[in-house]
Amino acid sequence: VQTICIIGAGLWQKPYLSRARELGYRVIACDWSEKAAGREYADVFEPIDVKDKEGVLNFAQRHSAEAVLTAADVGVPTAAFVARKLNFPYHTEILAYQATNKAAMRKTALEQGIPIPEFRVVGKEDDVLKPALDLHFPLICKPSDNCSSRGVTVVNNEHELIDASSLARQNTSDGNILLEEFMQGTEGSVEAICSNRQITILGICSKIKSPLPYRYDLQLNYPGHFNSQEVASAETLLRNVVRGFNIIDGIIHLEFIIKNENAKLIEFALRGCGSNVITHLIPALTGFDAVAYLVHQAFGRRQIIELNYQKKAVLKFVILPVGKIRSINGVDDILKRSSVVDFLIEKKPGDYVQSARDGRSRPGYFIAVADTLEQLANEAEYINNTLKVEYENP
Ligand SMILES: Nc1ncnc2c1ncn2[C@@H]1O[C@H](COP(=O)(O)OP(=O)(O)OP(=O)(O)O)[C@@H](O)[C@H]1O
Ligand SMILES: [Mg+2]
Repeated sequence: VQTICIIGAGLWQKPYLSRARELGYRVIACDWSEKAAGREYADVFEPIDVKDKEGVLNFAQRHSAEAVLTAADVGVPTAAFVARKLNFPYHTEILAYQATNKAAMRKTALEQGIPIPEFRVVGKEDDVLKPALDLHFPLICKPSDNCSSRGVTVVNNEHELIDASSLARQNTSDGNILLEEFMQGTEGSVEAICSNRQITILGICSKIKSPLPYRYDLQLNYPGHFNSQEVASAETLLRNVVRGFNIIDGIIHLEFIIKNENAKLIEFALRGCGSNVITHLIPALTGFDAVAYLVHQAFGRRQIIELNYQKKAVLKFVILPVGKIRSINGVDDILKRSSVVDFLIEKKPGDYVQSARDGRSRPGYFIAVADTLEQLANEAEYINNTLKVEYENP
């Protein structure tokens, strides 16, 4: 039996651990949290911080791992380090850094001629006003190294820049923030697999975004609401990123904004889209088991990718009013629905709902799949009407 080391064992990583186990591999996994939701699927679990490169290396060695995999963004640089030390197939450390540090990503994209917004990197001690005035308002202000849109806001003037830059700074580990031209247009993302530089696109979505100034997602529609030129432009952007960053294998999640049939890069990641898109939505949309593919690929095994169909799917986040929840009803009926491949409400009676500012503060979501857009719209409406959340002191 071969052993795979999975870095990160939380809620979103759980399907990777369970699938690897089902495929007959021995799974060793670590996570900073002793109570990680996926730990029961690991043959060996240890509470080690995903960012602790030496600690994870030592863990992989002690338990004779032969491959490494992570579905967490913060795990990518660690996986690259372990893979170099133990000679496993994985991305190089330089690529792992460029894929997880937004400043490094922008610099490389610029050198490679990949379309990106105008940007400035602002160091910890640097003045933010001068670069902001250089770029013109409105701007996007964001941390150099975080995810889930934490600390990302739109800034309209000098006054808003003060709070925006301090929020972004609170959300970085290196103190660097980015100011960027606020690109207008329709946002979307692509999920794709690379195998020896060959790209297979699993799905392209268009997004409905949160109200300003925040920029978390409200809804992802598969296939995206794009015409054929727009799709071609997103595909070209993906090819340029794969070539320019020298991506050879693995999954890629690429975010873009399209205007006038021209896609520009927001960012890409060397893991699938979060919120169970890769584990639940893509298999239901296409019939392709991406998780199994990635587990095998971690050992250097290349399998044929077959996309058997192209259904319609939606990932919709549940946004609730602010207040203290008294009761939640309808969950069982929603879960019974055959169109619903995933549904989660992270709140329970007695919990307080805060207003959402980023991806982490969204209280829940569902993923539904159907043969036609009309059926899908009906299913989404059914779910909306069936979920009943009551509040204390309404
Ligand atoms: N230059 C830009 N122009 C327009 N919108 C942008 C720009 N940069 C970021 N955004 C918006 O902010 C969102 C979050 O930014 P970004 O993806 O860089 O941060 P993140 O924390 O990695 O987010 P996530 O994990 O949610 O993808 C994007 O999805 C996009 O809507
Ligand atoms: Mg993003």
